[in-house]
Amino acid sequence: MAASTDETPVLALTDIRRDFRMGRLLVRALRGVTMDVLPGEFLVVMGPSGCGKSTLLTLIGGLDRPTAGSIVTSGDEDITRGDETALAEYRRRWIGFIFQSYNLIPTMTARQNVEFPLVFAGIGRAARRARAEALLKRVGLGDRMTHRPIELSGGQQQRVAIARALANAPAIVLGDEPTGNLDTRSGQEIMDLLLELNRAGTTLIVVTHDARLCTYAHRVVRMEDGVVLGVDAGGRADEPRRSVPIEGDTRDVGVTAAAVRGHSIRRRRSFTTAEA
Ligand SMILES: Nc1ncnc2c1ncn2[C@@H]1O[C@H](COP(=O)(O)OP(=O)(O)O)[C@@H](O)[C@H]1O
Ligand SMILES: [Mg+2]
Repeated sequence: MAASTDETPVLALTDIRRDFRMGRLLVRALRGVTMDVLPGEFLVVMGPSGCGKSTLLTLIGGLDRPTAGSIVTSGDEDITRGDETALAEYRRRWIGFIFQSYNLIPTMTARQNVEFPLVFAGIGRAARRARAEALLKRVGLGDRMTHRPIELSGGQQQRVAIARALANAPAIVLGDEPTGNLDTRSGQEIMDLLLELNRAGTTLIVVTHDARLCTYAHRVVRMEDGVVLGVDAGGRADEPRRSVPIEGDTRDVGVTAAAVRGHSIRRRRSFTTAEA
């Protein structure tokens, strides 16, 4: 089992293809994408609408499987080879997802939305609540715990979604056009929040067609028509990456509820350090 170092990618994608069959039509959404994700980096994947960004993120997030190719974690696991249970475990331990349309559960309060993924991690009620409250404070919503999504602005809803994405202290947070539904100012606030999280050690992949987001990135992957055209330096290319160590061992051998809790507490402490 490879230990995670700065040189070991968190994820290595090799020759990823994804075909969609629509009746007699074959849509080749991804036509051989090879790229890696480095620990602690803010990676922006940029390309025009329809070039395959969402398809790529869905595969990285373990929500879908490629037609061909491999996605290998720093724990030496190829997520394209595992069964459904392994994939669900990968999603829970490794991935937090942020969507353009927030995708909050409308009948739940902000706190319940953030607590929800912790239920599946087997975390007790009191610990769930404490964790959700700490995360909502972290994203600036300490005074909106019991609001439902409809009672929140778009920017606030996206903050809740970010807190939810962080609930299980994932190795990587994925954002699919996370500012796409927001006005310029709220969009910038969300990007500033993501920047802050990245500086505190969260690895981020954000896909977008908005070139303005490149200023936030260490590296920018340029996509077009299902392929990677190239990788450029982003606006923060020279800023060191801060990577919270990925416990490849715990992630591989099965994380107990207690271990997840311990991990969460460590992460919260690192947030506090970054705030100071
Ligand atoms: N489930 C699907 N079935 C059929 N075609 C799809 C599906 N998902 C995406 N596509 C097609 O794949 C291509 C890439 O789509 P997508 O990944 O959503 O692009 P982007 O997010 O960059 O706008 C598009 O041509 C789209 O129509
Ligand atoms: Mg898309």
